[in-house]
Amino acid sequence: MKKRVTKAIFPVAGLGTRFLPATKSVPKEIMTLVDRPLIQYAIDEARAAGIKEFIFVTSRGKSALEDYFDIAPHLENELRKKDKTELLDVLKSTNMDSGAIAYIRQQRALGLGHAVWCARRLVHNEPFAVILPDDVIAAEKPCLQQMVEAYEETGGSMVAAMEVPADKASSYGVIDIKEDFGSMVSVKGLVEKPTPEEAPSNLAVIGRYILSPKIMQNLNKMKTGSGGEVQLTDAIDAELKNDRDVFGYRFRGQRFDCGSKAGFLQATVAFGLAREELKDEFGSYLSELMAMQQAAQ
Ligand code: G1P
Repeated sequence: MKKRVTKAIFPVAGLGTRFLPATKSVPKEIMTLVDRPLIQYAIDEARAAGIKEFIFVTSRGKSALEDYFDIAPHLENELRKKDKTELLDVLKSTNMDSGAIAYIRQQRALGLGHAVWCARRLVHNEPFAVILPDDVIAAEKPCLQQMVEAYEETGGSMVAAMEVPADKASSYGVIDIKEDFGSMVSVKGLVEKPTPEEAPSNLAVIGRYILSPKIMQNLNKMKTGSGGEVQLTDAIDAELKNDRDVFGYRFRGQRFDCGSKAGFLQATVAFGLAREELKDEFGSYLSELMAMQQAAQ
């Protein structure tokens, strides 16, 4: 019988240098889209998919993340005194059950595969999810939930997948498709950051994974790949060499690359416009701005 997916790993050890100087003192996962940190979107998505244990792979300078998920009695008391019940609810929605969250340090930046491997002792022999908080996905049904439902049918390992322009494929893990079933593909191979000549398709891996615990054994080998780093993509590819199934899942939703400034700004606009309390004011500002820009041309 297939085991349920109840654990998720959040690799959050990266330095976030693309967002310096902000990330000099603020972890990039705490940067906000409207009023919620990137990590909150990732946690909400995991919860919706039935995840009960949250494993953060962190590094030096990321303690703001630990504080973020701790209860804040002083703040809660102040809000209670002032009868700000709505804000109190917002605050409480960020609290985590005691023991539901674990922090492991990745002491050296040896790659995404290495970061995931750092959590091996917490994963035991169960399938687990990996969520990269940089990839924010707006969807009616949260992406990981879509994947968990699909995974209940397939087993094996599964990566979120999305078509990208061919000239962008070299920024991603790319899928060599064995068979295309529409919303799902079976995978023949995976290549991390291929050159344009090497790219087997333009179907890219996006930062949501459901993985067999065997992946940890593959990672034990610490084989270095693209960029001299231990790549998660390579450890998943190794599953295929061992005759175990890997699937690509074309999720329904819009993905924002919040690891890039342009992507982060796009997400800010889209999430701002999606907010009931902001959409009128913010929407008319954007329309005015566009009209002014057009008039100036
Ligand atoms: C990572 C993965 C890559 C994947 C990408 C999705 O790359 O290594 O396979 O396509 O996330 O965002 P990174 O963006 O960390 O370089």
